[in-house]
Amino acid sequence: MKTHLNILVTLCFFSVVLSVVHAQGVNPKCSSQDQGSNLQVFHVFSPCSPFRPSKPLSWDESILQMQAKDQARLQFLSSLVARKSVVPIASGRQIIQSPTYIVRAKIGTPPQTMLMAMDTSNDAAWIPCTGCMGCSSSVFAPVKSTTFKTLGCQAAQCKQVPNPTCGYGACEFNLTYGGSTIAANLSQDVVTLATDAVPSYTFGCIKAATGSSLPPQGLLGLGRGPLSLLAQTQNLYSSTFSYCLPSFKSLNFSGSLRLGPVGQPKSIKYTPLLKNPRRSSLYYVNLFAIRVGRKIVGIPSTALAFNPTTGAGTIFDSGTVFTRLVTPAYTAVRDEFRRRVARNAGRNLTVTSLGGFDTCYTVPIVTPTLTFMFSGMNVTLPQDNLLIHSTAGSTTCLAMAAAPDNVNSVLNVIANMQQQNHRLLYDVPNSRLGVARELCT
Ligand SMILES: *[C@@H]1O[C@H](CO)[C@@H](O)[C@H](O)[C@H]1NC(C)=O
Ligand SMILES: *[C@@H]1O[C@H](CO)[C@@H](O)[C@H](O)[C@H]1NC(C)=O
Ligand SMILES: *[C@@H]1O[C@H](CO)[C@@H](O)[C@H](O)[C@H]1NC(C)=O
Ligand SMILES: *[C@@H]1O[C@H](CO)[C@@H](O)[C@H](O)[C@H]1NC(C)=O
Ligand SMILES: *[C@@H]1O[C@H](CO)[C@@H](O)[C@H](O)[C@H]1NC(C)=O
Repeated sequence: MKTHLNILVTLCFFSVVLSVVHAQGVNPKCSSQDQGSNLQVFHVFSPCSPFRPSKPLSWDESILQMQAKDQARLQFLSSLVARKSVVPIASGRQIIQSPTYIVRAKIGTPPQTMLMAMDTSNDAAWIPCTGCMGCSSSVFAPVKSTTFKTLGCQAAQCKQVPNPTCGYGACEFNLTYGGSTIAANLSQDVVTLATDAVPSYTFGCIKAATGSSLPPQGLLGLGRGPLSLLAQTQNLYSSTFSYCLPSFKSLNFSGSLRLGPVGQPKSIKYTPLLKNPRRSSLYYVNLFAIRVGRKIVGIPSTALAFNPTTGAGTIFDSGTVFTRLVTPAYTAVRDEFRRRVARNAGRNLTVTSLGGFDTCYTVPIVTPTLTFMFSGMNVTLPQDNLLIHSTAGSTTCLAMAAAPDNVNSVLNVIANMQQQNHRLLYDVPNSRLGVARELCT
C-alpha cells in the first residue's frame, strides 16, 4: 500500500517536473550533428534531453517511476494484437509512459527538428502538429513546410492505419498508446535522419491527444509491420538497423542508432528472429532456457515457448526498462539467484523489496552470473545489466521482475536496462537479431 502511495506521489511530482521544458545544456555533445546514417541516441534523463526532470531524482524515485512506466508498457505490449489496436485501458491511472530513448529527426522543408522517441514495438511514426489539443508545446508546423501534404482517404497507406475514417477528404485515424489516445491525419513529408533524406515519409500528424503517455515530440516506430521506418525505407536501409543504448547511470553518454547494412558489426552472435502473426510488429526470439551461475534453471517449457496462437514468447523491446518474465520463469530464476547469493555469503541473508523488485539486499553481495540462452546465442549479462545499486551503495536489487498479473501476460520482455551497452543488430532480411557487448559513448 505504501509503495502504491509512493508511486502515486512520485507520479504527481513527475507530471509537474516533466512539463518544464529546459534549454539544451552546454555539453557540446548535445549540439553535435548526426552524420551519415548514424543518429545519436539519448536517454530521456540525459543532460541533452529537454524532457529530463528539472531536479535530479533520488534513486528510489527514479526506480519507482521507471517501474510504474513499465507496468503501463507491458499493458501496451500485451494489447498489441493484430487488427485490434484500439483497446480499453485497464488502469484508470494516468501514467507517464513515454519510451526511454530519443533521437533527432528533421521534418519538412525547411527542416524542423523534433526529438522523437524510438520504439521497436511500434510501427508508424506520429508527430504532434500545430493546433493539436492536448499535445505539449513543441509541435511540427505543417504550414511552414513546402513539402507537407495530407493524404486523402483513397491513399493506399490509409488502409494500413487502425480504424481509418474520412474527414473532409483527409485520412484520419485514432489509436491508443499506453495510457493515451491520439487522433491524427495521415500525412507525408520529407524526414531527414542524420544526413539521409527520406522523401514522402508517411506519418500521423496528431491533432488531438489525451493522457500523458505520449512522447512530447513524437514517436519513430521501428517495428516490423507496415508504415514503420523499415517498411518505408527498404531501398535505403534494407530493413536493417542497430543501436547501442547508453546506461541511464552514465547520462552524459549518448548511444547510436545506425540505419542500414553499412557499417554494422561483422563479428556478432545471432539468434533467429521469429514472426508472430498475433503481434506482428514485435521482434520475437526463442529464449529456451536461463542459466544462473552454471545451473540451468528449471522453468516449465510453456513459460518460454513461442506460440503464434496466443502471442506468447519472448521479445526484445527498447521501451520497457526492466526485463519481465512470466511468473513461473521469474520465480525460478529469482529463487536460484537468492540461493547462490546466500551460498556465496555462507549464510542466509535478509531479502528486502523495493517497489516491484523483490530481491534486494542491504549488505554487499557476491552475485552469480545470469545467462539468457537463445537459439544459437548465449548472452551473459554483465553486472551492470543485472543489478541496480542505490547511489549511496547501500541497496542492491536484481533488476528484473515478474510480468504483472493483471495483464493477461504471456510475453517475456528483454528490456532496455538489460540491453544497455550492447549493440543490438536487427537484420530483418536474414531474420536474425545480433547481440554484441559495446560501450556506447
Ligand atoms: C556531464 O557533463 C556536464 C557538462 O559537460 C558536467 O558538468 C557533469 O559533471 C557531467 N556529469 C557526469 C556524471 O559525468
Ligand atoms: C477520434 O478521436 C476524435 C478526437 O478525440 C473524436 O472526435 C472522434 O470521434 C474519434 N473517432 C473515432 C472513429 O473514434
Ligand atoms: C487534418 O485534415 C483536415 C482536413 O483536411 C484539416 O482541416 C486539418 O487542419 C488537418 N489537421 C492537421 C493537424 O493536420
Ligand atoms: C537458511 O534458511 C533455510 C530456510 O529457512 C534453512 O533451512 C537453512 O538451514 C538456513 N541456512 C543457514 C546457513 O542458516
Ligand atoms: C550456451 O551455453 C551452453 C552451456 O550452458 C552450451 O552447452 C551451449 O553450447 C552454448 N550455446 C552457444 C550457442 O554457445
